[in-house]
Amino acid sequence: MSAVLLKVDGLKVAYGHIEAVKGIDLELHEGQITTLVGANGAGKSTTLLALSGLVKKAAGKVELQGQDLTSLPPHKIVAAGMVQVAEGRATLTTLSVRENLELGAYTRRDGRAQRLDDLDRIFTLFPVLKDRADGLAGNLSGGEQQMLAIGRALMAKPRVLLLDEPSMGLAPIIVQDIFRTLREINQNGLTIFLVEQNVRQALKIADRAYVIETGRIVLAGSGRELLGNPKVQDAYLGG
Ligand SMILES: Nc1ncnc2c1ncn2[C@@H]1O[C@H](COP(=O)(O)OP(=O)(O)OP(=O)(O)O)[C@@H](O)[C@H]1O
Ligand SMILES: [Mg+2]
Repeated sequence: MSAVLLKVDGLKVAYGHIEAVKGIDLELHEGQITTLVGANGAGKSTTLLALSGLVKKAAGKVELQGQDLTSLPPHKIVAAGMVQVAEGRATLTTLSVRENLELGAYTRRDGRAQRLDDLDRIFTLFPVLKDRADGLAGNLSGGEQQMLAIGRALMAKPRVLLLDEPSMGLAPIIVQDIFRTLREINQNGLTIFLVEQNVRQALKIADRAYVIETGRIVLAGSGRELLGNPKVQDAYLGG
């Protein structure tokens, strides 16, 4: 039985009068991939933004291995080990691939030698980034930019990696690559929280899964259980 790394209790987020997240409970277990799936506008991104401290929580508590992160500002949440992959593959297009990766380490206090080690590890994980290290990030393809965004987040040495729809806008074969890489990163020990509209792919790689509908968790289980759940099949997997 794996230990709980991140515990979210009663999280609520409102935009003005609209309550986008209506009191959700989540647990991420150490070393697992947990996914939050749901339709357009269900509250997935809002949940991640609240965890990262980028939108205000109206209620609830967020604890990372007993450390209360609820009221911390974004940079302290990153320093505590919860790191979100930049959305929309927001790489800095006028910097080189290497410079983008180095920027990911900005909250770390360890030495240059460790950072170079980690850079090497990321180049092993993404050989294409090594080949293109000194080229501009803006010249990478969409899939390569997504890999760079993931690599940059890894440079922060996360204990838990948060991703918001890494498959968005990518060709199916590239999506396969991204999901394969996430699994590899997870097998190296990293806990992952993956938000996806691509329900089938997300459930396939997830140890645990939650389904969110209009701001509430309506189903939870293992990825395999939810893949086989008739309600999930009807609503999200085309029957
Ligand atoms: N900045 C905002 N101001 C007002 N309402 C917002 C804002 N961002 C999101 N919302 C609303 O909050 C609800 C949840 O949106 P959210 O972006 O979290 O959904 P999502 O599950 O990520 O959807 P998608 O799959 O389309 O990315 C939606 O009703 C959305 O219209
Ligand atoms: Mg979203």
